[in-house]
Amino acid sequence: MTSNWNPNSWTNFPADQQPDWPDDNELNAVLKEISELPPLVFAGEARTLKSKLARVCNGEALLLQAGDCAESFSSLSANSIRDKLKVILQMAVALTYSTGLPVVKVGRIAGQFAKPRSSPTETKDDVELPSFRGHIVNDTDFNAGARTADPKRLLMAYNQSSATLNLLRAFTRGGFADLTQVHSWNQQFVANSPAGAQYKEIADGITNALAFMRACGITSEDHPALHEVDFYTSHEALLLGYEEALTRNDSMSGDWYDCSAHMLWIGERTRQLDGAHIEFLRGVENPLGCKLGPTATTEDAIKLCEILNPKQIPGRLTFITRMGASVIDNKLPELVGAVQDSDHPVVWACDPMHGNTYTAESGLKTRNFSDVVDETKRFFHIHRSIGTWAGGIHVELTGDNVTECVGGAENLSDDDLALRYETMCDPRLNASQSLELAFHVAEELRSS
Ligand code: PEP
Ligand code: CO
Repeated sequence: MTSNWNPNSWTNFPADQQPDWPDDNELNAVLKEISELPPLVFAGEARTLKSKLARVCNGEALLLQAGDCAESFSSLSANSIRDKLKVILQMAVALTYSTGLPVVKVGRIAGQFAKPRSSPTETKDDVELPSFRGHIVNDTDFNAGARTADPKRLLMAYNQSSATLNLLRAFTRGGFADLTQVHSWNQQFVANSPAGAQYKEIADGITNALAFMRACGITSEDHPALHEVDFYTSHEALLLGYEEALTRNDSMSGDWYDCSAHMLWIGERTRQLDGAHIEFLRGVENPLGCKLGPTATTEDAIKLCEILNPKQIPGRLTFITRMGASVIDNKLPELVGAVQDSDHPVVWACDPMHGNTYTAESGLKTRNFSDVVDETKRFFHIHRSIGTWAGGIHVELTGDNVTECVGGAENLSDDDLALRYETMCDPRLNASQSLELAFHVAEELRSS
């Protein structure tokens, strides 16, 4: 047992980015209710994910962590979950087919509701209101009622996570993810893009291989590995009261697990070494991520390893670097080198999204696909030159044909952004841009 830790010990530390809940009694009543509800995931699943991430840590697999910036209460539908899963499966197939490596698939899904904000308030026409903090806290509309933090939303987030997980389990176990379906994941608008055409070639290859294997007597019906896919959930562990309410003692191991998701990560704004987020997460046994942005020092990185992974277990800790394409060459080599010298085992993943956000002339927040690709390629080059394993990528995407990031094969321009700009928070890659990114990663890995 981690010393001096309990699921509530985080309350003795400063917690950044917590909402201003108007009524503590109401908040506590909701948290008590959640603490009595069933866990969303099982400790054993989190342990299995940790062992798969250990393979990534050892250079034997890749991590693909992907999904929404912020899930929405208003757009929950079977189709949107299915389409997100489709593009993640497509990306994984592109990577595995090109590299021969297994891909550990982790969604930013079934719980990715809470958003850290750079300012606690937003001002429009001289009116100042609390910032939108994700649907688990408040709503996007700019009026006092919508922006007031409402604890009932915690319960709604739990319920939506549960419904989403249920469908994900059905999709990944019930035949949808069967490799014989590899063509059907290519949605029409993706199939018409260059990445979609490249994907079709791979899908043809897999279909031929499956026909050959079937002739040899190996079918997906009797080989679960061809019929099912392991898919894990993750989100930023931001609202510590909610995370605490879902933290349970595992009867098998006696250890504590945060059963709101398989993997939790600590955001760039809440990774203070003496802060409540680090205190809470050091005590749960789930695999953890921690974002590292341009201000992270080598001392920060080493201390994070010591606090979050004192037993040096491979797969326990993933550093998700989000430097920005123009900064990564200056910052990442030093961090990677220091962690390498310290012998702490970490998975390195590249988030090529959050360091490359800017506001376009139209006033919409966007990212240029070429910056996303550029940061990703530089990430792989840096690891190759140091001799460390570039473990994977962490991206914000959707399965829909949105126009939120400029560039890509369709060459979306600033003028196109308003066409289908649907995100509640950060701009996401659409399905064809996501697949195109996967092919860039595959190319990097092949050339290494
Ligand atoms: C995010 O992943 O949505 C996010 C807010 O990232 P970061 O903490 O890296 O800014
Ligand atoms: Co984001």
